Amino acid sequence: MKIARLPLAKLTTIGVGGEAEVWTVETLDDLKTATQAPYRVLGNGSNLLVSDAGVPERVIRLAGEFAEWRPDLAGWVGAGVLLPTLLQASARLGLSGLEGLHGVPAQVGGAVKMNAGTRFGEMADALELVELYHDGGLQVYHPSELGFRYRHSELPQGSIVTRVKLRLTPSTQEAVRAKIALVDAARKGQPKKKSAGCAFKNPPGDSAGRLIDVSGLKGTTIGRAMISLEHGNFLVNLGGATAAEMYALIRKVQAVLPLEVEWDIWG
Ligand code: FAD
Ligand code: EPU
Repeated sequence: MKIARLPLAKLTTIGVGGEAEVWTVETLDDLKTATQAPYRVLGNGSNLLVSDAGVPERVIRLAGEFAEWRPDLAGWVGAGVLLPTLLQASARLGLSGLEGLHGVPAQVGGAVKMNAGTRFGEMADALELVELYHDGGLQVYHPSELGFRYRHSELPQGSIVTRVKLRLTPSTQEAVRAKIALVDAARKGQPKKKSAGCAFKNPPGDSAGRLIDVSGLKGTTIGRAMISLEHGNFLVNLGGATAAEMYALIRKVQAVLPLEVEWDIWG
C-alpha cells in the first residue's frame, strides 16, 4: 500500500482539484485498513470536479489485486482496470457487450458507479455479477439489485466496487469492430481538450448539449474554463482552470436551464 499527499488535478481528466491523502490499495487487508477513517474512492477521475482546496477524506485508489483481469475476459475483472483496455480485448476476442462504452475513459468501478454509457449501451448491460466491499467485507450482487438507470446506480452506502464478472456474447471481431466504429462516429463532435465528459445529464428525450447550444452559451469563458464550442455539454479546461471557475460556469448554465449536474463534485 502507498500513501501520499497528491494534487488531485493530476489524477482527474479535467486537471482541476487541490490535494488529498491518496491511499493506493493492493490487497483486501489494505482496503480494510484504508477504510478505517472517512474515505472517498477515485477511479480514473473522468467524471470528477474536485474543489481547489482538495478534500479532507482519504482518497482510495485501486491497484494490485483490484486491477487484475484475464486476457480471455472470463472470470473476475478488477474494478481498477480501465474500460479502454477491456474494449480492446473484447474486439480482439470477438466478444460483444462493451461496444457502447467505446470512448469512455473510466475504470470499471467508476463505470459501474456512474452506469456509464452511450445510447449504444451502458455498463449495467454488460454485468453478470458485481463484487462490492462495504461494512468491512466483500459481497456479491446481481446487477438487478443495484438500481441501475441512466447514469445512476444505488450501491449500498459507502460501497467500493472491487471486481465484476462481465456478461459478454460470442460474436466476431468484424461485428464488434463495426459496432465500435458506429459509436466512434457518434462521438466525433466531442472536444479533445481536458474535460470530465458531459457536465449535465440529458433531460428525458432531449440533449443538454443541444439546449446549451440553442441558449447561445457555447464559448462562454470564465478564467480558463470554457463551454466548448464543439459540444455545449462539455466544460473544458483551457489550461490552469480552477474548480471555482468551473462551478461559476455550471451556475451560469443553471441560471438559464434547469439541468442536473452529471459530474460528481468533491469538496
Ligand atoms: P471517477 O471519475 O474517478 O469517479 C466517479 C464516481 O465513481 C465517484 O463518485 C467515485 O467515488 C466513484 N467510483 C470510482 N471508482 C469506484 C469504485 N471502485 N467503487 C465505488 N465507487 C467508485 N460518461 C458516460 O457515461 N458516457 C460517455 O460517453 C462519456 N464520455 C466521456 C468522455 C470524456 C472525454 C471524459 C473525460 C469523460 C466521459 N464520461 C462519459 C464520463 C466518465 O468517463 C464516466 O462517468 C465514468 O463512469 C467515470 O469513471 P471513473 O473511473 O473515471 O470514475
Ligand atoms: N447538439 C447540438 N449542439 C451541441 C451538442 C449537441 O445541437 O453543442 C445536438 C447534436 O447535433 C445531436 C443531439 O444534440 O442532434 C445529441 O448530441 P450527441 O449525439 O452529442 O449526444 P448527447 O446527448 O449530447 C450523449 C451523452 C454522451 C455520449 C454521447 C454519445 C449524456 C449527458 N451525454 O451526449 O455522454 O458520449 O451521447 O452517445 O448523456 C457523458 O455522459 O459524459 C458523455 C459524454
